Amino acid sequence: MQIQHNFSLKKYNTFGIEAKAKQFVAVLSEEELKTILENHKSDTKFILGGGSNMLLTQDIDALVIHIDLKGKKVINEDDDFVWIESQAGEVWHEFVLWTIDQNFGGLENMSLIPGNVGTTPVQNIGAYGTEIKDTFISCNAMNISTQELKTFTKDECNFGYRESVFKHEAKDKYVITSVVFKLTKRNHKINTSYGDITKELEKQNVVTPTLKDVSNAVIAIRQSKLPNPKELGNSGSFFKNPIISKEQYEKAHALHPEMPHYVISETEVKVPAGWLIEQAGFKGKRFGDAGIHKNQALVLVNYGNATGQEILNVSKDIQATVLKQFGIAIEAEVNVI
Ligand code: EPU
Repeated sequence: MQIQHNFSLKKYNTFGIEAKAKQFVAVLSEEELKTILENHKSDTKFILGGGSNMLLTQDIDALVIHIDLKGKKVINEDDDFVWIESQAGEVWHEFVLWTIDQNFGGLENMSLIPGNVGTTPVQNIGAYGTEIKDTFISCNAMNISTQELKTFTKDECNFGYRESVFKHEAKDKYVITSVVFKLTKRNHKINTSYGDITKELEKQNVVTPTLKDVSNAVIAIRQSKLPNPKELGNSGSFFKNPIISKEQYEKAHALHPEMPHYVISETEVKVPAGWLIEQAGFKGKRFGDAGIHKNQALVLVNYGNATGQEILNVSKDIQATVLKQFGIAIEAEVNVI
């Protein structure tokens, strides 16, 4: 374990932003994490996972601890289900592919989401009709101040749409070290309810889809709409889809009858931010090296040398324009540092 100084984080954030950490260390085990936390009690600390959900707008004047704990294992099973514990530093997509290879079902709709396993509970990642909370059992986390390990049950995580306790009460207090999922061994619940998946499977002439077929369909859809961070810096959806009151929706809908929406409850409606941003004229636009992706307006991109501040400015411009045009406030999903 070696602490490095003035360390470039460009390779450690999927936006590919150049920013420096005052100090940087990668920890490979729970013991290393404990030691670092014990030895640096008075230093400001910044916990870094896969770096796929953050926008760095400045250098980090802290000890950056990169969570690189690897390993996955079956911890329990019966005839129908398997309980798998994955360490936080496993790459999410590789983990998903591994579960599919073992014929374990439940994560296939979340194929190709960037990031590491340990950060998936923080924002309850989701895609194509599935969220992490559907298969999540618990996660283990180390208290940053006391180094005690705590298990968070699903209830304690308080999951919501891109929400969890780790964005609120537990924020900056814990480091997630491993996550336990309960997956199916047979009678898989294949979920093709999301329109794009059905269309993609039809295109591929698949009638009775397997886990692998669903995963391949999701990969094909994502590759057609979402930029690969290795080729074009980005952080997936930059904004959340806003959830607004029925009254507010009706007002906006009267002015824009073609506005898509999903009913959330009797009183709330979700509107796709990508649609609002596209209508506001931003899709595919470029401002220097910062831009809005041409196939998915929810995704902001770095064409090479954009600074975090430049991308933040574009995001603010989008928010202000959407608010003015539709009366709807859209909130960033990524963490702006
Ligand atoms: N839309 C547009 N223009 C755009 C993008 C979308 O009009 O540029 C419209 C689409 O036509 C569609 C609606 O918006 O009517 C929804 O689009 P899509 O199905 O692509 O999903 P999304 O709401 O844009 C969400 C997640 C994605 C996830 C997809 C699929 C959020 C913030 N984003 O996007 O998650 O992959 O659904 O489930 O909830 C991520 O979080 O990084 C991410 C990519």
